[in-house]
Amino acid sequence: MTAGPLSAPRPVLVIGATGYIGRFVADASLESGQTTYLLIRPGSGSCSREATIRDLRSKGAIIIEGCVEDSELIEKKLREHKIEVVISVTGGDNVLDQLCLVKAIRSAGTVKRFLPSEFGHDIDKANPVEPGLSFYNQKRKIRRAIEAAGIPYSYICCNSIAGWPYFDNTHPSEIAPPSDEFLIYGDGSVKAYFVAGTDIGKFTMKAAFDSRTLNKIVHFRPPFNCVTMNEMAILWESKLGRSLPRVTLTEKELLSMAEENCFPKSVVAALTHDIFINGCQTNYSIDGCKDVEVSSLYPDSTFQNLDEFFDEYAVETPLQEVIELCPPNSMKEMLPVPPTCA
Ligand SMILES: NC(=O)c1ccc[n+]([C@@H]2O[C@H](COP(=O)([O-])OP(=O)(O)OC[C@H]3O[C@@H](n4cnc5c(N)ncnc54)[C@H](OP(=O)(O)O)[C@@H]3O)[C@@H](O)[C@H]2O)c1
Repeated sequence: MTAGPLSAPRPVLVIGATGYIGRFVADASLESGQTTYLLIRPGSGSCSREATIRDLRSKGAIIIEGCVEDSELIEKKLREHKIEVVISVTGGDNVLDQLCLVKAIRSAGTVKRFLPSEFGHDIDKANPVEPGLSFYNQKRKIRRAIEAAGIPYSYICCNSIAGWPYFDNTHPSEIAPPSDEFLIYGDGSVKAYFVAGTDIGKFTMKAAFDSRTLNKIVHFRPPFNCVTMNEMAILWESKLGRSLPRVTLTEKELLSMAEENCFPKSVVAALTHDIFINGCQTNYSIDGCKDVEVSSLYPDSTFQNLDEFFDEYAVETPLQEVIELCPPNSMKEMLPVPPTCA
């Protein structure tokens, strides 16, 4: 199954298009010219949700009203529209609802590739502390259900989304990096991969139609976007033209936040610990027979690098805002800052 520029549009169903990652995937599906159906829960939501739906519809998306738990409806729609690819981008608190989706896909028999809601780490390899582990156990349950049902799949492991990795469950690409101080996890020396949301969408769509990713774990490891928090802080300082103080959030503090067991803060603390203390994105090799890596699969397609990514925020961060937030007497010694991007 390959879809080049001259291929006829193929029917794709995206579930979760109004969400943070889902929006990038739905946009990329439309941009790649596929016939894009979106399963949208009925009822009105926030103004921004409504605006997202309007925008996607204006780009050609076809809306199907319904929810993922409604196996019967989904099975009917999959058959009716001969859907070949299903991409689920439902949120972290709804992972197990996808068991209904697995049932519908198996019964319909039209789907040539299913991409469940993963879009993070390789959950069979990573081993975060609780409650991150329970969250991963839910995602693992979905993997095992897909495999048991014999549904063709690709598991997208896109690692971290590009942006400053705020701890408080804020979606990182939606706000600029800090302009007052950096909160650094541990000693800030552990590397992680940061991938722009638009690239998550773009490469997810390529993988969805690529025979080389059939029944594979698809890793996103663009080498030049593999950086530490310390390197990322220096890069952002180079854009601001001044240095900012560092505050450390220790391993012990992250673990005690995880232990509080309050959702979603403790899950985020557990995963932050796994990324920036354990190095869960880089502490294993991906040469297994089930692993593929996107920059090797598509050497002619470029990823946006962090330097370019931060440029966009630098333009949007007015100097006055920086001065108000960081009066000179609150600053550490001003140092010339070299631009760095590993
Ligand atoms: N790599 C990273 O840095 C990163 C960051 C964030 C998330 N993730 C992962 O990406 C995936 C998506 O997370 P997200 O943060 O993008 O989610 P999100 O913003 O919470 O969005 C969830 C989407 O799923 C829809 N949805 C939820 N339950 C549904 C149901 N029962 N039926 C139909 N639609 C339903 C929501 O629709 P409504 O508009 O109706 O609510 C929304 O569109 C998760 O697997 C998460 O773990 C990865």
